[in-house]
Amino acid sequence: MTTTFKKIGVVGAGSMGSGMTMLFAEHDLEPLLPLRARTLHARVHTFKEYTPFLEFLGGKSTRKLFVFSIPHGTAADKVLADIDEYLAQGDVILDGGNEWYENARRRQEALQPRGVSYISMGVSGGYQAARRGPSISASGDKEALDAVMPLLQRFAAKDPKTGAPCVANLGPSSCGHYVKMAHNGIEQGILGIVNEAWELLYKCMHLPLDDIATMWNKWGNEGELRRHFLINIGAEICGRHHPDGPPSHVLNEVQDKVVQDADDSEGTGIWSVAEAAKRHVSAPTIAAAHFFRIASADRAQRMKVVENVGQDLGAARKQQVEDGFRGQFSEDLRLAVYCATLASFAQGLNLIARASEDEGWGVCLATCMGIWREGCIIRSEYIADVLQPALEQSGAITNVLTLRVVGEELRRTVPALRRVVALGIEWNAHIPALGASLEYLKYCAGKHLPSQFMEAELDYFGAHL
Ligand code: 6PG
Repeated sequence: MTTTFKKIGVVGAGSMGSGMTMLFAEHDLEPLLPLRARTLHARVHTFKEYTPFLEFLGGKSTRKLFVFSIPHGTAADKVLADIDEYLAQGDVILDGGNEWYENARRRQEALQPRGVSYISMGVSGGYQAARRGPSISASGDKEALDAVMPLLQRFAAKDPKTGAPCVANLGPSSCGHYVKMAHNGIEQGILGIVNEAWELLYKCMHLPLDDIATMWNKWGNEGELRRHFLINIGAEICGRHHPDGPPSHVLNEVQDKVVQDADDSEGTGIWSVAEAAKRHVSAPTIAAAHFFRIASADRAQRMKVVENVGQDLGAARKQQVEDGFRGQFSEDLRLAVYCATLASFAQGLNLIARASEDEGWGVCLATCMGIWREGCIIRSEYIADVLQPALEQSGAITNVLTLRVVGEELRRTVPALRRVVALGIEWNAHIPALGASLEYLKYCAGKHLPSQFMEAELDYFGAHL
């Protein structure tokens, strides 16, 4: 199979689909975008109906290339049903949505006997990366993937150090979507960690937002947090002022609730937590950040509980701190953010390794770290520099906490995380992800756990022996 595709049919004109369409147009492909007539680029053709879209793409007799950028579940099933009549031997569908891996596998298996290759393709980096170059975790039919890989390599983000494209064929079946799900789990963990660091600085220590912006810009430029995307954008968010009117920060107008999309009763966060539990992988940083997020979303219920308790149990205590202490604490916090981020990575990678073993996918964790070097939300140059070479040397392992270099990093930074968590409790700050990361590291690297007693209790009432 050679790369003969000159046109690409993009289904889904949301921010990701539109961004990818523009990028394809700049990479010598003629993108066709159905269902939404909007002028995007001189080379982009838009259609309101499927039939002219499919005819323009080549009809029934020509091999066609599609990209889906649509919500998971029934949306993709509906699109497939709508285009079914036109699908033919040699067609390739790249499903770039956040799809549940079992849905992707089901579609692969249904289409494969007809010679249609359905590629499971995680796309990360938000709409800006969709426009500039995302990180791509792909899997499925090898021959079809080999055929489209040159295109994906041109289109993907590039590692700034080596220029390597952040895309790979991770293996068979739908492991591409599984890896994207785990990426989003890690992302949720880091979002929690960074959120908690911000509260400690802003709500407890009263650091002005512009000072936090300056501090995080420095953090994001060198050392353990260099090119840590969520710190980099955190600095921008803290420093953003309203362009008009009296000086004020945009951040101060954002409400304290993080809602999931109304129709998102499932989603990558929920799947990551459920998968970790199902596959017996400890992932408390990811789970704690997820549960914090969903509790934050229900503001009305929170207000009822505050009223019922008669006080705001979550009111962070303001601190009067000396300049010297501030410097020392911010250094501890920087290392604590790094250490907890490493814990979130360890959990997500552990989940991928366990699923890969269960399903026989053979996913290489070093390759995952390679494609997460640029374009995606969890990119963090230092962590990639620590994990990728060590994983390349170690061969197949399931838990990165067993890597020598990770042991050294934890020995060096856990004390800072411990001090930050202790102060967080004293200051009544919200530290679910930081606290869970510390506990995770304590029990994963613990010689004698109190579970001895739990086991005895279980034996006592349940004949657990
Ligand atoms: C990405 C992101 C993206 C994700 C959003 C928020 O890699 O570009 O992971 O895919 O959908 O970050 O997702 P939720 O609101 O569902 O957590």
